[in-house]
Amino acid sequence: MKKIALGVSSSVGIYKACEVVRGFQKSGVEVQVVMTPNAARLISPLLFSSLSGTKTIVDIFEEPLARTVGHIALAREIALLCVAPATANVIGKFAGGVADDFLSTLFLASRAPVLIAPAMNEAMYLHPQTQANIARLKALGAEFVEPEKGYLACGDEGWGRLAEPEAIVLEGMRLIGRTASLKGKTVLVTAGPTREHLDPVRFLSNPSSGKMGYELAREAVARGAETILVSGPTSLVPPAGARTEFVQTAAEMQAACLKAFPKADIVVMAAAVSDFRFKAPRARKAGKIEIGSTLAVEKTPDILALLGKKKRPGQFLVGFAAETHDILAHARKKLAAKNADLMVANAVGEGKAFATDDNSVRIIAPSGPVQETGLLSKREASRVIFDRVEAAVEKKRR
Ligand code: CTP
Repeated sequence: MKKIALGVSSSVGIYKACEVVRGFQKSGVEVQVVMTPNAARLISPLLFSSLSGTKTIVDIFEEPLARTVGHIALAREIALLCVAPATANVIGKFAGGVADDFLSTLFLASRAPVLIAPAMNEAMYLHPQTQANIARLKALGAEFVEPEKGYLACGDEGWGRLAEPEAIVLEGMRLIGRTASLKGKTVLVTAGPTREHLDPVRFLSNPSSGKMGYELAREAVARGAETILVSGPTSLVPPAGARTEFVQTAAEMQAACLKAFPKADIVVMAAAVSDFRFKAPRARKAGKIEIGSTLAVEKTPDILALLGKKKRPGQFLVGFAAETHDILAHARKKLAAKNADLMVANAVGEGKAFATDDNSVRIIAPSGPVQETGLLSKREASRVIFDRVEAAVEKKRR
């Protein structure tokens, strides 16, 4: 049986949280309610304990003196952290990394999907600070069930009323389902640039930061896949749960990919592989006079094209196309030439995509319309990309 944590904070919409508990239970999910101390002044924790069948947690210092620390143990057990209702205060604390009660500590300790249903006065909800906090949390991967417009506790009409419990439960169940959607599958992701050295101090490369690939690997892990990340040099922290192999050159990346490919069900080539390498690399640094003004280069292996040739019927290949112009035409050509199943195209240059936190991508299949995402954080874009990959894998299977 799946277990979730339902965070309840002190908004008047709190009475609807009882229905949220019931809704999750009816869907076969065990609910652990975590109230903020202020929420416990509005409604007795006893009501939620009775409804959920488990003692409601309020005070972080009430934890039993066991070997496990309560919020850490719970953080590992849950398939979802849902907060309904979420006050401006809770949203602000999550966005700022403040951890001063059980709920905010649980948020930091957990890697489960997060669903937030805000409820507050309209002016507070629309305040640029609250909106900035919401945007920050969305960029970090949290999902929201937006509040509705209606009669508010303060007597005003406006935005800020907690969404209906059914809508919150429905969205929560969708997120829980996604945590296992790639269970049993192996996903290979490549990320970052490659470096092709001329000598120990000079190399050919590109500005790729690896952010998109790392987010994709993180998403594959979140969906339950056995995840292999082959990464070029980056300054990023490898995603927890993925097996990360670091490489420098295109040839090393190719070797790592070929080794992982036989067991991979899905391959996502997000790496910006250097297209050229020096014909005569040197083991020792050479002076510029010795090097001269012309350097001979040769093409590196095209890893995606090679995997496209080796692809078995059950395997699914996703390529990336970073273009400065004629984006769709170039991406379509690469999709066909490399025998990929999907191509994710994005614009680069003029500060776009490379090393940024946001990306606007177009997803291209061999047939059918192009899917345009609009500007998203790379976190959100990785989710859209995997939703599309999963739908396409399913279509191919049928
Ligand atoms: N790719 C690869 N091996 C290479 C070059 C590219 O596997 N040596 C992959 C990239 O990871 C990406 C896709 O191919 O998924 C397209 O990369 P891109 O550099 O846009 O395409 P190229 O084939 O190198 O074409 P271009 O002539 O535009 O550089």
